[in-house]
Amino acid sequence: MAEAGAGRALVLGIESSCDETAVALVSSAREVVAQRIAGQEALHAAHGGVVPELAARAHEERLAPMIGAVLGEAGVGLREVAAVAATAGPGLIGGVMVGLVTGKALAFAAGLPLHAINHLEAHALSARLTAPGLAFPYLLLLVSGGHCQLVEVAGAGRYRRLATTIDDAAGEAFDKVAKMLGLGFPGGPALERLARGGDPGAVPLPRPLLGAAEPHFSFAGLKTAVLRAVEAGTHRPADIAASFQSAVGDCLVDRTARALGRAPGVRALVVAGGVAANAALRARLQALAGRHSLPFVAPPAWLCTDNAAMVAWAAHERMAAGLPADPLDAPARPRWPLDPEAEPVRGAGVKA
Ligand code: KG4
Ligand code: ZN
Repeated sequence: MAEAGAGRALVLGIESSCDETAVALVSSAREVVAQRIAGQEALHAAHGGVVPELAARAHEERLAPMIGAVLGEAGVGLREVAAVAATAGPGLIGGVMVGLVTGKALAFAAGLPLHAINHLEAHALSARLTAPGLAFPYLLLLVSGGHCQLVEVAGAGRYRRLATTIDDAAGEAFDKVAKMLGLGFPGGPALERLARGGDPGAVPLPRPLLGAAEPHFSFAGLKTAVLRAVEAGTHRPADIAASFQSAVGDCLVDRTARALGRAPGVRALVVAGGVAANAALRARLQALAGRHSLPFVAPPAWLCTDNAAMVAWAAHERMAAGLPADPLDAPARPRWPLDPEAEPVRGAGVKA
């Protein structure tokens, strides 16, 4: 019997930029040969959000045994791996350094090329890991805990940012509203579950920037309006959750439609990042793509939230595009825009 990944180049991916420690072995033929993802919910729950130093310490403790487990499960030695890929930013600097220096040490010890991967690029290309037919260029809605962007993806390393958020990221808004409703952390999945039993029309909420000419996002005003509704105490939590999710959906759909008008050559609408795991939002984006006669591609939920398979896959994409590996002094970059040419947006908070 042929071994999984046999005859194909294998990349070992490492992710540690926020609160997931993840390791994966991915082949050039799109097989996720083995992977491990360890979340840190229990560690951060009491603090209501990710505590950077606690996150970095947990990555440091867990990463090496997880690498051993992934290689062991695959029955692969480090010297049978073609390259090591580690997230080098953007993200929480302590965690990024743990993953990147681990990747460097492995690459150095085994004489392998190192790919220092931009976490946003890993999200941006993730859909192509499970959808081989997805062709460039596509319009990407990248919605995570730290980012909310619309990007035209022309290929590995080729990104044109069309829009970003001028205040909070969509996932951040989900997490803050979930906290107001006492749902714990991380809040996105819990809020989605609560919203299923609620009336999306029950609580009148604003839709910031709806209809604005530029396709940018804003969620701060929506978040404040939800806080007032919670404090008023007159609405059922499920109705607040459903109304909030519906308002976010309206904003995402409207802003993405606006960006589609500015990217006439795109061949698909793609959503990625943790918030893309939300089934209600996916359904609304699918309908939008249908109205524009475009295919809609969303990675499976496990590939939307942070993972290392997307990091390994980004290295495969970069190699296939002829982009070089990185030197062993490649820096950890807490801030690292996908499109360095993009104009700064007035009011935009700088977030990792
Ligand atoms: O991509 P990701 O795992 O980490 C970052 O790079 O930020 O995204 C995490 C974010 C969190 O804000 C989390 O609440 C949100 O994604 N999220 C969701 C859902 N699952 C995760 N938001 C809404 N609905 C979900 N089902
Ligand atoms: Zn992410």
